[in-house]
Amino acid sequence: MAHDWPRHDMSFLAGQRLRRTRQTAWSRAMVRETELLPRDLIWPLFVIEGQNERTPIRTMPGVERLSIDLMIGAAREARDAGIPALAIFPNTPDHLRSEDGAEAYNANNLMCRTLAAIKDAVPEIGLIADVALDEYSANGQDGLVRDGEILNDETVEAMVKSALVQAAAGADIIAPSDMMDGRVAAIRRALDAEGHEQVQIMSYAAKYASCFYGPFREAVGSGSRLKGDKRTYQMDFANSDEALREIEQDIAEGADSVMIKPGMPYLDVIRRAKDAFNVPLYAYQVSGEYAMIEMAGAAGAINRDAAVLESLWAFKRAGVNGVLTYYALEMARKLTA
Ligand code: PBG
Repeated sequence: MAHDWPRHDMSFLAGQRLRRTRQTAWSRAMVRETELLPRDLIWPLFVIEGQNERTPIRTMPGVERLSIDLMIGAAREARDAGIPALAIFPNTPDHLRSEDGAEAYNANNLMCRTLAAIKDAVPEIGLIADVALDEYSANGQDGLVRDGEILNDETVEAMVKSALVQAAAGADIIAPSDMMDGRVAAIRRALDAEGHEQVQIMSYAAKYASCFYGPFREAVGSGSRLKGDKRTYQMDFANSDEALREIEQDIAEGADSVMIKPGMPYLDVIRRAKDAFNVPLYAYQVSGEYAMIEMAGAAGAINRDAAVLESLWAFKRAGVNGVLTYYALEMARKLTA
């Protein structure tokens, strides 16, 4: 028996019922405001030394570090799935890590050999090279340290050298992730002087000092080395005006695109950046965000597949051109299937 509910008077809304367009799948499709496509997805990959080597990362279930030969296979899969670019991160062998992180500008380091190998085998995919010293230093800091202080300008000099060997090896996009002041201008000037005018810079422009990088630091082997924190260079999570100043400066210094990182806790910053600047904008759905979704999914707390889709779509709604995400290959395949 149908209840005879009293009908609510909605005449004051002039006939507006927002549920009207949500009634059917075709209508929901018609009014959908944003799209998520394979070309929106950039795939971060971790490389290790060796042949046919793959090692799991305890805090990132489902993600593995790969040796160069296996990276080439991964690059082919990514290209075939419509992913435009890979972001490469090296797990530098312990004996090559040092206080000055000099391995960062060894032209034959693991990173450069990886870039060259992928560029040779899969030239159709873009290669984004992270530039920061933490992947090469003995102390896990992104900058050179003297008497407990992070040295800005000396670090920038080392990063310029690192960017140059990466560009020579085949990097299409240099992505400084260190948050030193002035590094975009310095890298741009050096790239141009060495004939790399076409190499882009994607700056980690607003990068916050965040606990959500924990699993990444295990992946590249810097976490156990790190003493203290990165709060003298990475941003305070209380601020967003300052993020706009960081982005503005990096654009002025010559960045071709800018990134905000982490992702999901900073969607407000993404939206502010989108409204304030006309520049290609990216977000990094970082390792801790990945771990949260995987572990909550495995525990049966949330539907993992639905969470992946919703989280990535949220970035598009917030206004990004693309997302760096460990889900890139899986999602690119699903979105084209
Ligand atoms: C290195 C770097 C970090 C990440 C990307 N580049 C870690 C850090 O700054 O400590 C984090 C990525 C992730 O958590 O997925 N400077």
